[in-house]
Amino acid sequence: MSLSATSVFDSERILRGTSVRHVEYHPVLESTNATACELLTALVENGPALVLTASQTAGRGRKGNSWWSSTGALTFSLVLDPDSLGLSPERRLLVSLAAGLAVRDAVAALLPTRSVMVKWPNDVYVAQQKVCGILAELHSQNGQLGLIIGIGINVNNSLRDAPPEVAARAASLFDLAHQSFDLTALLIDVLQNLDRRIHQIASQPIGFLAEVNRHHMLSNRQVSLRCADTSVSGTCLGVDESGQLVLRVQDVVRRFAGGAVTSWT
Ligand code: BTN
Repeated sequence: MSLSATSVFDSERILRGTSVRHVEYHPVLESTNATACELLTALVENGPALVLTASQTAGRGRKGNSWWSSTGALTFSLVLDPDSLGLSPERRLLVSLAAGLAVRDAVAALLPTRSVMVKWPNDVYVAQQKVCGILAELHSQNGQLGLIIGIGINVNNSLRDAPPEVAARAASLFDLAHQSFDLTALLIDVLQNLDRRIHQIASQPIGFLAEVNRHHMLSNRQVSLRCADTSVSGTCLGVDESGQLVLRVQDVVRRFAGGAVTSWT
């Protein structure tokens, strides 16, 4: 499939350095996940495919939230055929955790003196500031199933330009390191890491889980989780082999497949 218009990103380098076979680049998009949904059949057929933009104007977050970003952020969606992953349906749930770990490793390589952690299910934090959010969605179009992994990393933008409620809990790599980074290089690193982690889920699931837990910022902390209409608080024991958050709640070990972590101490 031919390339879309060129950009601040180097599509040739992305195609050479990763397993991506098509780059769908648009200078401005409302949401790379929304575009991935619209073009799903073609992207899966020509995949792995990447939907990439230099400026996302209406990013989608988890649980119907919006995702703020500005020019200089890295916003993209990777589109995969879930049947091509070599994973059982249960293990496919771990791909979203793998994406968080892939970003963590890439960001940690750029900020070697900082502690870069994953927060279940797949946010990436530096200290107490969120630098990356991930929205993984399974969609079907014309009977074709596609896994869309949308990743937003605040890189060369600054949270100074963000609404106050976002700026209070997030940071960009520029804000933290006072320097700019090569967006194409970071993207390639994330995609290579993700490929490696997906293979690790299949070949070494125990090692994969150990890596998630080694870099998990909630472990041993008091965590409050909102799920459906209730809120639960407990000590976080980690993430289990099916990707669930494990909490000890009043001496009972409970596992949570979903929910939003609202606070931790
Ligand atoms: C979250 O933390 O709530 C998830 C945020 C996910 C944002 C990324 S940016 C690229 C991709 N396109 C979207 O519309 N959302 C994801």
